[in-house]
Amino acid sequence: MTQTDLFKRIIAHSKEYGFIFPSSEIYEGLSAVYDYGPYGVELKNNIKDYWWAAMVQMHENIVGLDAAIFMHPKTWKASGHVDAFNDPLVDNKDSKKRYRADVLIEEEIEKIKAKADKEVEKAKKKFGDSFDEALYRTTNPRVVEYSQKATAVEQRLGKAMSAGDMADLKAILEDLEIADPEGGTRNWTDVRQFNLMFNTQLGNIAGEEGKLYLRPETAQGIFVNFLNVQKSTRQKVPFGIAQIGKAFRNEIVARQFIFRMREFEQMEMQFFVQPGEEMRWYDYWKQTRMAWHQKIGTPAEKLRFKDHDNLAHYANAAVDIQYEFPFGFKELEGIHSRTNFDLSSHQELSGKKLQYFDPEINESYTPYVVETSVGADRMFLSILSQALQEETVPDAEGNDSTRTVLKLHPALAPIKVAVLPLLKNREELTNAATDVFNKLKFSFQCQYDEKDAIGRRYRRQDAIGTPFCVTIDFETLENQTVTIRDRDTLEQQRVHIDQIEGIVGGKVSMKSLMV
Ligand code: GAP
Repeated sequence: MTQTDLFKRIIAHSKEYGFIFPSSEIYEGLSAVYDYGPYGVELKNNIKDYWWAAMVQMHENIVGLDAAIFMHPKTWKASGHVDAFNDPLVDNKDSKKRYRADVLIEEEIEKIKAKADKEVEKAKKKFGDSFDEALYRTTNPRVVEYSQKATAVEQRLGKAMSAGDMADLKAILEDLEIADPEGGTRNWTDVRQFNLMFNTQLGNIAGEEGKLYLRPETAQGIFVNFLNVQKSTRQKVPFGIAQIGKAFRNEIVARQFIFRMREFEQMEMQFFVQPGEEMRWYDYWKQTRMAWHQKIGTPAEKLRFKDHDNLAHYANAAVDIQYEFPFGFKELEGIHSRTNFDLSSHQELSGKKLQYFDPEINESYTPYVVETSVGADRMFLSILSQALQEETVPDAEGNDSTRTVLKLHPALAPIKVAVLPLLKNREELTNAATDVFNKLKFSFQCQYDEKDAIGRRYRRQDAIGTPFCVTIDFETLENQTVTIRDRDTLEQQRVHIDQIEGIVGGKVSMKSLMV
């Protein structure tokens, strides 16, 4: 399966099996807005539980918060979002399509890098085992030229973005002769800044005064509550505040399914530290968060760190954890050293002190903040991309057959156990299966299914990632034993009904992910 095919499969599978539907689909959908179906909501909740357990439950010095989506409009002035939360927008005058200028340029840089890689691949084939890739990359004139060009454009883009130099972004588009990916022409408008915040109006106040924003990040709810939380929980710096919640951005280019949405969910944690300590904690959180991603089985080679080329207005260091999605390595999580920018700005604009008295050093200061921020939806997409597989397996007659399986970590699977009577029309079997289901449902998210032949029911459970299928057959009626089928090995074990809970519980518990 090519990566493009895989991506199409993920989208189709998500809809067919009740994971994700386009929002308001009967009206042709709403661009970049999606609804989570019955299995999608379970998987997303499990992802959020995994994050919450790892961040809040496992850290005595991290506590939770659920702040409102609407905040006083001054919040967004202080945070810099009113003035600086912009993307550079450009229109093609012929196709009337709208793009992010920086994304067009980044895609061009990738193309230049791909040319260098192609030369290297050709040489690798030609020279075989004796090929020294590192030497070739630094000495082959064509490879060196492509690499230098890519680096120069990257640096120029970084500079233009940091300076907000829209004219130079347009000049880069022209210098590189970048064409509209859809229309093919180079007839561009000027590049202009576009603020990504959605706004609405407070009911009883007209005009600018009543202008409210839908939060573009959850972090600000944490900053403005910093002292409320610190005082009410008697936390000492260093400590963190964690939050999961919706965020909204009026993305210019909203493509790639749930990768870039206009309404999405963030899992953010702000870690408050003594000034001067931030780089130590930045490194700590980089390693801790990378380990969190790998713990659910995501292979290390599918994840990488990527330092930011241009820093956001609030950061003195920033790195992304990127995942190799079917459309390439892209940001999954951001880890940012945000200095004391946010607390200081809120302090200044509100006139309220947001300082911490540190008994260890007998001094008051505005803490520095290291933030970890991961999108629940992007996490969902990375997990689906990793889990969705097609395999050749033996069917009931021992012949090769293809199955679609979601190899989710059992703790994240939407349904933990499917309970299946061997036959639908034998009341003694369906009654026994119902009894097993009614017992297990107190411990796990279970599903009872009696429709279709047993093989088809197994396939249906494979496709939604159910780690265990329990089948009730005639032997169950005699000796209270069932078969329990493992999704990954396909092995079927015969066990007593009383053993099911222990076998399943050992595999699906979040505990195994915490140690
Ligand atoms: N508080 C910092 C912050 O918001 P960010 O890098 O803009 O940083 C953090 O966003 C994470 O939120 C991203 O790594 C991504 O996982 C997720 N995210 C951001 N924009 C998104 C969008 N439009 N759709 C889905 N997820 C998004």
